[in-house]
Amino acid sequence: MRLDDITKDNYFQVVMLTTNQDHTATVMEKHVASNAFSLVEASFCENPVYTKAIIHERNNTVIGFCMYGITEILGKRVYALLRFMIDVSFQCKGYGTKALGLILDEIKALPDCNEIFLTLTPGNTRARHVYHKYGFRSTGDVIDGERLYRLEL
Ligand SMILES: CC(C)(COP(=O)(O)OP(=O)(O)OC[C@H]1O[C@@H](n2cnc3c(N)ncnc32)[C@H](O)[C@@H]1OP(=O)(O)O)[C@@H](O)C(=O)NCCC(=O)NCCS
Repeated sequence: MRLDDITKDNYFQVVMLTTNQDHTATVMEKHVASNAFSLVEASFCENPVYTKAIIHERNNTVIGFCMYGITEILGKRVYALLRFMIDVSFQCKGYGTKALGLILDEIKALPDCNEIFLTLTPGNTRARHVYHKYGFRSTGDVIDGERLYRLEL
């Protein structure tokens, strides 16, 4: 497993990934925005934001996507995992857990990173379980209907 920059050679595979059960990507999916939406959003972010393809080394298959960087949460500039998804065909095989470790290592290496935030839609118990294993805990705050989680480093 590895994280690659998004390039002209892999963006098509990235935007075709989906978490929808019918394997067809839509602009907004149940627990996460589409990767196409996220790439457009990243291009307009004023803060530094990084987008990565999650690659399974067997056949160099693009299996997921993430976006992380600086954002403003509750009036504070913080590091956050802004998007994270594994394509529906590859979920529940341990890949998300492994990829999250790689993603967190990249965020931790950014300057002055001592905490990482993310938000979760209600009922996303699988993602909550995976984040909990890495130490994310609810702050008790709710932002736009999503619960805020924090990992203290
Ligand atoms: C969340 C997501 C990234 C996790 O990746 P994944 O490859 O499916 O996860 P893994 O296979 O590594 O691990 C899944 C874990 O959740 C557990 N799990 C599965 N379904 C569950 C559920 N409904 N409730 C709680 N735990 C669940 C599994 O048992 C496993 O835990 P274990 O390794 O301790 O046994 C992926 O499922 C996904 O893309 N979901 C849709 C998009 C999303 O929710 N993104 C996060 C938004 S912030």
